[in-house]
Amino acid sequence: MSRKKITTATLAAFRARGEKAVFVTAYDYPTATFAERAGVDMILVGDSAAMTMMGLPSTLGVGMDEMVVFVRSVCRASTYAFVVGDLPFLSYQPSDEAAVLNAGRFIALGCDAVKCEGGARVAPRVRAMTDAGINVMGHLGLTPQSLSQLGGYRVQGKSRDSAQQLVDDAAALEEAGAFAVLLEAMPAETAALVRESVDILVYGIGAGPHVDGQLVISHDILGNFVGDIRPSFVKRYGRVGDEIERVFRAYADDVRGENFPGPEHCYAIPREREDEIRELREIVHDLRSAAIHREPDSSSFPAELVSAR
Ligand code: KIV
Repeated sequence: MSRKKITTATLAAFRARGEKAVFVTAYDYPTATFAERAGVDMILVGDSAAMTMMGLPSTLGVGMDEMVVFVRSVCRASTYAFVVGDLPFLSYQPSDEAAVLNAGRFIALGCDAVKCEGGARVAPRVRAMTDAGINVMGHLGLTPQSLSQLGGYRVQGKSRDSAQQLVDDAAALEEAGAFAVLLEAMPAETAALVRESVDILVYGIGAGPHVDGQLVISHDILGNFVGDIRPSFVKRYGRVGDEIERVFRAYADDVRGENFPGPEHCYAIPREREDEIRELREIVHDLRSAAIHREPDSSSFPAELVSAR
């Protein structure tokens, strides 16, 4: 069934109807295709690709050129989902110009919006991008690009003061023109407070149910993340990694046991052609056996077989 393209107006209508948006990460064409077939509303091409796709220890090691490949792949698959391109570390922090140019690169590839991390301190960048006509989603709470400043993977907004700081940051993003903010790793009560303090859309990942939609890292729900990080808020729905490994093992067993390829996996030709080629095989076999016993002399080979020596 083909769905109408989701826009910021569609997302606002979801909120008005109290309908939760279904938001997942994807980094490649097949995953984005399957997500769309399943009816997902929003796709984040996250800089988490550094960890999920490239095996890096944090999100800091992925750059624009690699993100462009992931973004292109997802945008090619996406027909109706709202696609958000995640601006990687140092693609927007240095200057307004860098922010606009890099965000513009994602938009030109087909993204509907970009996401950047931080609150009041990135508000000028958000303003520059929104002034350039680009939809911007903010990201507050556990912001992996500033992991060392946060002291590691820690739940945010656990005290009254830190909850107030999140409200102030969300207000700064709204003021700068962001259409939405993503809240990561915080108590449900804090996320509810932030959502009730602003008019822009509020999405959550590990931020409880009182938000406009839920984001998950697809590898976490699919069960194919390779690594030790297992956030407690994640619900796993499959064991895709185990299934991939099972298929590779079965294939390896078949190849080693000479059970693959079978006749059904071979290109068939008419019997007479097969006989002709078999005759040729016999000639080649005889010539090669003879060659073992004397110096090779290419003049004794039929011309069409010289290349086969
Ligand atoms: O890159 C990403 O997937 C993200 C989520 C963790 C929020 O930014």
